Amino acid sequence: MDAQVSKLLDFLRFASISTDGAYAGDVKQCAEWLARLLKEIGLETQLNATAGHPVVVAKNTHKPGRRTVLIYGHYDVQPVDPLGLWTHPPFEPHIEHEVIFARGATDNKGQIMAHILGVQEALSRGDLPVNLIFLIEGEEECGSTHLERFLSEHREQLRCDIIAVSDTGMVGRGIPTFTYGLRGIAAMEIKISGPAMDLHSGIYGGAVANPITMLARLLATLHDADGRVAVEGFYDGVAPIEEWEKEAWAKVPGGDAELIKLTGVPRLFGEAGYTAREQIWARPTAEINGIGGGYQGLGTKTVLPGEAFAKLTFRLVPDQQPAAVIEKVRKHLAQHVSQAVRMEIKSGHGGEPYLMNPNSPGGLAAQRALKKTFGRDVALIREGGSIPIVQSFKKVLEAETLLLGLALPDCRAHSPNENFPIENFRAGIRLNQALLQELSAF
Ligand code: BES
Ligand code: ZN
Repeated sequence: MDAQVSKLLDFLRFASISTDGAYAGDVKQCAEWLARLLKEIGLETQLNATAGHPVVVAKNTHKPGRRTVLIYGHYDVQPVDPLGLWTHPPFEPHIEHEVIFARGATDNKGQIMAHILGVQEALSRGDLPVNLIFLIEGEEECGSTHLERFLSEHREQLRCDIIAVSDTGMVGRGIPTFTYGLRGIAAMEIKISGPAMDLHSGIYGGAVANPITMLARLLATLHDADGRVAVEGFYDGVAPIEEWEKEAWAKVPGGDAELIKLTGVPRLFGEAGYTAREQIWARPTAEINGIGGGYQGLGTKTVLPGEAFAKLTFRLVPDQQPAAVIEKVRKHLAQHVSQAVRMEIKSGHGGEPYLMNPNSPGGLAAQRALKKTFGRDVALIREGGSIPIVQSFKKVLEAETLLLGLALPDCRAHSPNENFPIENFRAGIRLNQALLQELSAF
């Protein structure tokens, strides 16, 4: 196996799950390993502690008169559950038919490693054409909670002309894809409690409200029958999709049939009047990511549970604001919850949506690099996922972010059997070099 693939496999062996404190040691070891690697390839590297997981910053020798490019990525990954559905253990990378399987293979270790190795190759031939800054964090998958503060505190050190990120998708194999918009996000948890303890459902059931039933009713009020979010004012400020976007998206390969095949659903669903792509890329949503309470073990247990919980996230589009959306949802929940139970709401991380002009000088430079790397015309899209720090880059560093992702539709990011083709890894290494060349004079 070649040295580049083997480096990626080493990176993938760290269980750097950021959201679960039990893995904090693995996250730290992963950051230390990454910092060593960046140092070994000749970059001046710092491993910065934060109130959360460490941030790795690495730079080449900056020279006056050159453009400064910041490449952002993340070394943390999502949890692996349901573990039983992985065909190989998630942190023991496995290659089959030239595809690497492991948690983080695509999101984001494979993609950021391609940038690092692209830089390593270029450095081994001489100098880079730009002043480069790598900023690689360990909290992207749980909302980048401490990174905005880090940006403000290191604004001078991170000052740059443009930012590049490979943490988005390609619309199909071999189709270069430039993403000019991301959805934002707002997270919250709801706890419904009733009786002070779990009760016998025969002795008390009927007279005491069941927290799971009350939670289910409450969650059902979030949408109307047509799939629209029923929270008052939720769509305030939502920018309409522009005509040129509708036309461009309709031509992007891979339509509804492919979506049905990829996801395994019997049919698509959602807000009337929008295509699936429009729904995913440019319309806001309310999603229940987890629900719990009551007996989950084998057999039956006649319990009337003391409490039930749900984890929610809202995907936001320009010009919705996470804090305002959370307030509207809080009000909605308070109005709709049964008086026979108590409700606690905890709001979580938030990130603003992002939208840029794909025809800006930086956007055009990125598209040229993509076209050169893949030898084909570039698809222009928005994405439904979120990278919360991207909008903060604009606010704090006052720089535009170019999103040139390499994730394939069937990469299974956040799911069991996440994977990244070696072909995309190699394309990423070439893309890094084409991009730095284009950005040296955009
Ligand atoms: N790489 C994704 C973001 C993404 C996914 C962009 C799909 C485009 C298409 C990123 O690592 C991610 O998963 N972000 C989280 C952020 C959240 C936990 C705050 C997301 O979107 O759920
Ligand atoms: Zn992710």
